[in-house]
Amino acid sequence: MADFCGRPNSLRKRPYLRKISNFKSGTMNFTITKAEQSRISEINFENLEFGRIFSDHMLEMACRDGKWSKPEIKPYAPITFEPSMQALHYGQAIFEGMKAYYVDDNTINLFRPKDHHKRLNNSAKRLCMPEIEEEPFVRGLEELLKLDHKWVPRTHGHALYIRPFMFAAEEYLAAKVSKEYRFMIITSPVAAYYSEGFNPVKLTTSDKYVRAVKGGTGEAKAAGNYGGSFLPAQNAQKNGYTQVIWLDAIEHEYIEEVGTMNIFFLIGDTLVTPQLGGSVLPGITRRSLIAIAKEWGLNVEERRVSISELFEAHKSGMLKEVFGSGTAAVISPVGLIHHKGENITLNQNEIGPFAKKMFDTITGIQYGKIGDSHNWTHPVTVG
Ligand code: COI
Repeated sequence: MADFCGRPNSLRKRPYLRKISNFKSGTMNFTITKAEQSRISEINFENLEFGRIFSDHMLEMACRDGKWSKPEIKPYAPITFEPSMQALHYGQAIFEGMKAYYVDDNTINLFRPKDHHKRLNNSAKRLCMPEIEEEPFVRGLEELLKLDHKWVPRTHGHALYIRPFMFAAEEYLAAKVSKEYRFMIITSPVAAYYSEGFNPVKLTTSDKYVRAVKGGTGEAKAAGNYGGSFLPAQNAQKNGYTQVIWLDAIEHEYIEEVGTMNIFFLIGDTLVTPQLGGSVLPGITRRSLIAIAKEWGLNVEERRVSISELFEAHKSGMLKEVFGSGTAAVISPVGLIHHKGENITLNQNEIGPFAKKMFDTITGIQYGKIGDSHNWTHPVTVG
């Protein structure tokens, strides 16, 4: 029997016993309540769907009047709250997306956790939420991985997706900044994000909807940015496209992002990506790819790129490849772009050699298979 989300029922009942310990990690006190019985034997690691199953433990911290409680690690379980909880009404909710990669039985790599921590705090500032210190974030991740390292898939290309998130938890219907918050981290073993895997996706512009506007919340990883993108994405999918390629909100001409990813164009020998500038999410994969390309001696331009320029570059044969980047999808080659009734097909709808080389390089670093001259990986000793 499965529940309405397709998970085995055994993942919803949680009858296991608990062992409680207080634990000091660095200068930080953690309370750890261990699940005595792991659910891992019920998981089919050969058939992982993105974000559907969750490992044995989660981390939780509560904040009241600006003061955070000490981190608590406990078995993954439902949380309770009142219907008046503010996040449900006014959308003070932010998140991060990170991954942990299997290196060997004793080592799991986190990728740029301190950069994810900084971005979470930038999102928090934009949404009037309390910042969180680096130690509970990074050490919390380490402790979670020590407990749940067996949940990190071993297949190259698969990983343990990590979802840190924060939401307003005060029970109060006034449209005001909440005085209470929860911060949590849950983890989920995943395969590829898109059903296409590493195969090229098809994109369309939307002539009606935009993702973000400068001065809005587009550069924060705010939950509402994603909720607002679902209707245009659904319309795109009904028309046979995988995702929307977002144009700017004012002129409806300049490319910003694609789906839930940043976007790159190989035009001639130059790697071009839309500049950040307020409405674009400052992707950590984006930043890493820019650094790798520069290291290879490529000319990289972060600038405004119009959809007309893209179609012109395609016409003149200069547009070699297009790909999206993000933590969940890593690199997602683009095979087709539709705009106002016209289509361009890229690289014969095949994975381009440049995107493939980028993918092999960044995943090589993440899985500890090739040198990490940037110190991006954060190895955690487990087992
Ligand atoms: C990520 O790439 O980690 C994201 O946050 C995208 C998410 C909506 C799955």
